[in-house]
Amino acid sequence: MRAVAIASPPWADLPEDPEALFARILDWHRRGDDLVRLYHQLRAVAPVWRAPVERLGRPWVITRHADASQLVRDTSLVKDARTIGMAGVGGGGPWIQILLRMFAFQPKEPHARMRGLVNRGFTPRSIEQLRPRVQALVDELIDAVIDEGSMDLVSQFAFRVPVTVISQMLGAPLEDVPRIERWSGDFARRSDEGAALTPEVEKMGDEAATEFAAYLDELIAARRARPADDLLTRLLEVQREAPDLTDADIASTVILLFQAGHETTANLIAKGSLALIRNPDEAERLRRDPSLIERATEELLRYDTPVQLTTKFATKPIPFHDRTIEPGDPVSFIWGAINRDPEHFADPDRLDLGRTNLDHYSFGMGANYCLGANLARLEIQHSIETLFRRIPGLRLGEGEIVYKPQLHLHGLARLPVAW
Ligand code: HEM
Repeated sequence: MRAVAIASPPWADLPEDPEALFARILDWHRRGDDLVRLYHQLRAVAPVWRAPVERLGRPWVITRHADASQLVRDTSLVKDARTIGMAGVGGGGPWIQILLRMFAFQPKEPHARMRGLVNRGFTPRSIEQLRPRVQALVDELIDAVIDEGSMDLVSQFAFRVPVTVISQMLGAPLEDVPRIERWSGDFARRSDEGAALTPEVEKMGDEAATEFAAYLDELIAARRARPADDLLTRLLEVQREAPDLTDADIASTVILLFQAGHETTANLIAKGSLALIRNPDEAERLRRDPSLIERATEELLRYDTPVQLTTKFATKPIPFHDRTIEPGDPVSFIWGAINRDPEHFADPDRLDLGRTNLDHYSFGMGANYCLGANLARLEIQHSIETLFRRIPGLRLGEGEIVYKPQLHLHGLARLPVAW
C-alpha cells in the first residue's frame, strides 16, 4: 500500500455505489494499489451497511473503529465452520476435513477447551525464551545475502523467519522446513475469497493436506516414542489428560498454527519493510532509536495489517445503530479499514512510529483473539529492527512489487530490494 496523503472521500474517480466498491475491494485485479482509498470511500458512503452479496451470505460490513469496538466485545458473535463456507469452499476431501477439525472453527465450548489446552504451549515465558534463537535466525538470513547487494525480501527473508520458528517450536527437523513451507503455502491457496476455486487449486489443497497430515503422523509417533522439549511433546502430554483428543486433532492444530502463524507474520515483515522503505524518515528514526521497535511494530500492524478481513456470525439479535443484526447474519470486520478510521486515528494514512494511539484490531479481539500475538510481535521486532540496522541503505530494487490475490491473508508475493 502506498503512503499517499489522501484528501477526504468521496472521490469522483471511485464508485459511490457500495456494492461496486465492495466488489472492487474483493477483486485483486481491480483494487490494484487503491485498497486504502476504496476502504475510505466505502466507510464514507456506507458506514452501516449490509452487502447484498449472496455468495458471502449478505454480510454486514464493518469499517468504523467505534462499530468494531462495540461488536468485537459482543459474545453473541461467533466464529465457526460457517467461516469456511464463507470463503466459498466446501466438499468432503482431506483439505476440508482438516479445516473442520481446527479449533478456530469449532463451536464455542469445544473451541474454548482446545484453545486453553494449546495455549499452554504459548505461555509468555516460553515465547520470551525464543528471543536468542529468533535473533540468531534473522542474523543468519541476513549473513546469507548481505554480500549480494539485492534480494527478494519476501522469499529470502520474510517467509523464512516464521516457518523456521514454528518448525523449531514444534520440534520438526530443520531440513524438513522447505517441505513444510510448500505444504503450508499450497494449503492456504485454496481459501482465497477473491479467486475462482479451480479443480487445480482444489487438488493442490487436498494433496498438501494429505502429505502434511502423513508427515505429522510420523512426527507424532516419533515424539510419542521419544518425548522432547518441544510443543508437539506438550500437545501429546495434554492428550493424556484429554483422551478424546485424537492424533488427527493434534495434526489439525499443528496445521492451524502454520496457517495462522506463517503467512500472517511473513506478510507483516514484508509489508512493514515496504512501508519503512517508502517512509525513509521513519526508517531513519528507528535506526537512530532502536528502542522504538515495540511501538513501531504496533504501528506497522495498524498501518497495513496482514489479516484484512474476518467474518463472525450472530447467534442472537444485536441492535446495531437503528437496525438489527439477526441471528445467523454474517458480520465481516474489514480490519484494514477499521485500523485507518480517521474518526479514531489522527492522520490515519501517515506512518508514524511515535504514534501513541495504537489500539488496532490486527490480532482480532474476544474469544478468537490471536493465540500467537506475542510470538508474532517478537518475530517482527527482531526481523525489522535487525534488517534496517544491518542494511542501512535498504531501498527498492529492480523489478515489480507483486501482491498476492487474497484479502483475508493480504501480502506480497515479491518485493525486490537492493542496498
Ligand atoms: C502478524 C502476524 C499475525 C496476525 C496479524 C494475526 C492475526 C490473527 C487474527 C486477526 C486472528 C483472528 C481473530 C478473530 O477472529 O477475532 C488470529 C487468530 C489466530 N492466530 Fe494469529 N496472527 C498472527 C500471527 C500468528 C502466529 C505467529 C500464530 C501462532 C504460531 C498465530 C496463531 C493464531 C491462532 C491459533 C488463531 C486462532 C485463534 C482462535 O480461533 O481461538 N497467529 N490471528
